[in-house]
Amino acid sequence: MLLEKDIQTKTTSQKCLDHTLFPWSKQQDLSPMEVVSANGNYFTNIGGKTFLDFSSQLVNMNFGHNHPKMKDAVANQMNDFSFIFPGAATKIKAELGKHLSRIAPKNLNKVFYTLSGAEANENAIKMARIYSGKSKIITLYQSYHGATYGAISASGDPRRHPIENSSMPNIVRVENPYSYRCPWGTSSENECCEKALEHLERVIQYEGPENIAAMLLEGESGTSGCIKYPKNYWKGVIALSKKYKFLTISDEVMSGFGRTGEWFAVQYHGVTPDMITMAKGLTGGYLPLGGILVDDAVASHFQTNNLPLGLTNAAHPLCLAAAKQALEIYEEEDLINKAKQTGNYLHEKLLILQSKHKCLGDIRLTGLLGCLELVKNKTTKKPMAPFNAKPDQMNEMNMVKNILLENGIFTLVRWNFIFLAPPLTITKQEIDKALSAISEALSEVNKTCD
Ligand SMILES: Cc1ncc(COP(=O)(O)O)c(C=O)c1O
Repeated sequence: MLLEKDIQTKTTSQKCLDHTLFPWSKQQDLSPMEVVSANGNYFTNIGGKTFLDFSSQLVNMNFGHNHPKMKDAVANQMNDFSFIFPGAATKIKAELGKHLSRIAPKNLNKVFYTLSGAEANENAIKMARIYSGKSKIITLYQSYHGATYGAISASGDPRRHPIENSSMPNIVRVENPYSYRCPWGTSSENECCEKALEHLERVIQYEGPENIAAMLLEGESGTSGCIKYPKNYWKGVIALSKKYKFLTISDEVMSGFGRTGEWFAVQYHGVTPDMITMAKGLTGGYLPLGGILVDDAVASHFQTNNLPLGLTNAAHPLCLAAAKQALEIYEEEDLINKAKQTGNYLHEKLLILQSKHKCLGDIRLTGLLGCLELVKNKTTKKPMAPFNAKPDQMNEMNMVKNILLENGIFTLVRWNFIFLAPPLTITKQEIDKALSAISEALSEVNKTCD
């Protein structure tokens, strides 16, 4: 039995572990950091140490923490009403819909709201299947579309493996155009792109174009290592979708809302898909909201056919108010352009780091969505940690993470990737600070190179 004094001396971290299941982990291995406050591009832990948030948490806090306008926007909506049934017409719904259709690529004029990115993807798949009367969905092996049953089944990420024996059927996966490690052994980005598109076309033929409802791919690759699409990849996918008559769904959950220096990554690639799924940056991470933007053809199908989708909290007024305010912040603070400019600055500085560090194999950055890929040897490209690395294969990468934390830099480290996705409000001085810590970490890891 616990004595009163034991209860009092337990840390908040331990108390959380007592009654909370944490995601993606063996619970016994965890010792979560206790965070007490967050402001701007920083957050502070219980020990009073402040961290520069170089991953915008989970690439969702796109304009940093504690923005004063966000509190007011949500509180003002609360003064009218906090919740009303999703079938109701409300001023906030009318305004946000209009704003989203203005920033979206042309013809994507209607939105269906969800609460998360995973739900947005699941519902987009449902819509594509119903609209087309076909069932197969093509996705990339190195992709992530969310953790709910359908979304994780559609993902290529190995986080789908535990449910493989009962996953959603009719997902067909293809290889990524991963030019740094091109599956077809090509030496140029263009060639890798051509091979990837030829491979995609072969798979379409093997599967039967008459069975393919849609291809779902990230607007720009994120969690799988920012496997930046070659210049013409998206254009090639759109051309194949027209040739074989399937829909394209751009998952912009991570790459949307300014990350790539455009509102949506497809705009960076100069294409218009049939649907865009979104979440994360839609509210700047302040409240949970996702959605699917659909083009006029898909929308018109559901003018005369039932739309069999719905969620209690779809179009929750408080979340819509947060999204509307977030969109205004992106515009008032010119954050989309800033992401492009600071992204260019970050890229220049990273090239200098690459020439100094043996372990810095590849830099992949689009605007402020990027990853560094670490290798044991630049010639053989042997990864610093393998694909789907187990905890005991992460020694060098854990060293990187710890050195960054010691230097007050927080970011995501996965397998052999270091993520670079700071808030779009990041300054050049803050980038310099983060890069100096990254350089220190790389110097240590260089010692383990072959
Ligand atoms: C590209 C992409 N799609 C979907 C998701 C899932 O979003 P959520 O966690 O909001 O369900 C994520 C989450 O990281 C993502 O990166």
